[in-house]
Amino acid sequence: MSKTTVLIQIDSDPQASTFDSIVAIDSGVDHLLTYQSVTLFEVQSLVYGAMFTRGGDDLKKTALFFGGSDVQQTEALVRAAKKTFFGPVRVSLMSDPNGSNTTAAAAVLCSEQHLDLAGKTVTVLAATGPVGFRIVQLASWLGATVRVCSRRESRAQQICDMVRRKRGPDEVGELIAFQTANHEQTYNSLRGSDVVYSAGAAGVEMVAEQWLDVKDGPSVAVDLNAVPPVGIFSIDVMDKAVSRGNTICYGAVGVGGLKMKIHRRCIQQLFETNDQILEIEEIYGVGKSLLT
Ligand SMILES: NC(=O)c1ccc[n+]([C@@H]2O[C@H](COP(=O)([O-])OP(=O)(O)OC[C@H]3O[C@@H](n4cnc5c(N)ncnc54)[C@H](OP(=O)(O)O)[C@@H]3O)[C@@H](O)[C@H]2O)c1
Repeated sequence: MSKTTVLIQIDSDPQASTFDSIVAIDSGVDHLLTYQSVTLFEVQSLVYGAMFTRGGDDLKKTALFFGGSDVQQTEALVRAAKKTFFGPVRVSLMSDPNGSNTTAAAAVLCSEQHLDLAGKTVTVLAATGPVGFRIVQLASWLGATVRVCSRRESRAQQICDMVRRKRGPDEVGELIAFQTANHEQTYNSLRGSDVVYSAGAAGVEMVAEQWLDVKDGPSVAVDLNAVPPVGIFSIDVMDKAVSRGNTICYGAVGVGGLKMKIHRRCIQQLFETNDQILEIEEIYGVGKSLLT
């Protein structure tokens, strides 16, 4: 008898994300098992349970999803899970702490509908958060020069160093730490930039009105904050490739449609083989395949 699909949702928060549970159900999984407050002490036994119950081709019918608002904690759980697998005895897994991987992939893919990032200059505002960090990773892997912005230059510099370490300095585009502690510095980060991604905390305006007057400003702007006030003045949350002045704009909901499609497709893909590891780069790849 053909086995049903089982997704094991592993969350480091005291309450597992209902958002992630609903997306899993909407993706068509037959059974969703949800575990919360998972620490490094528990993760191995959860993974063993997934690895040792079904053999051979049926292993692909069980998969793991890792979420949680503490990105470092979730990533530690993912590393521990990967170490638990051996040889062919493994199950597929997806990591999307706080939605950061699917959101960053969707943001970059939206901008790529209008220009190829290779050789371009892009600005990532609030590059120190989980979403901003992953946008920096993707844009630099794609060959862009990335202005990595934070209110504190030292934090921006740390992000540049982390991105270089993860992939190797020769494998990433130029990374430039920018301080954006006030409007003037933020406008400076936009001058001569082709794309701006605004990944500031919910409800924080990162770019005020005058950005529309910035000479040589970005031709594409992507704002990920859906909570008023939006992150980039004048962008509407619903914007999806809407032209405002000389700039093509995306708002958080405009990006969110693609993000949801990517998330659902990734969950479905987990059950195609038993050896998939879907993290930022692979999730971006899934998104790209949806658009081609
Ligand atoms: N559209 C979607 O589908 C979707 C999905 C997930 C998340 N999101 C949104 O994406 C955005 C980024 O998410 P995240 O989890 O990466 O954000 P986050 O960790 O909450 O914040 C990101 C950065 O914002 C900066 N920041 C915080 N408070 C600030 C303030 N008062 N003024 C200026 N800067 C401030 C900080 O950077 P510095 O301290 O370095 O300056 C912080 O590291 C959020 O708006 C979130 O709601 C959207």
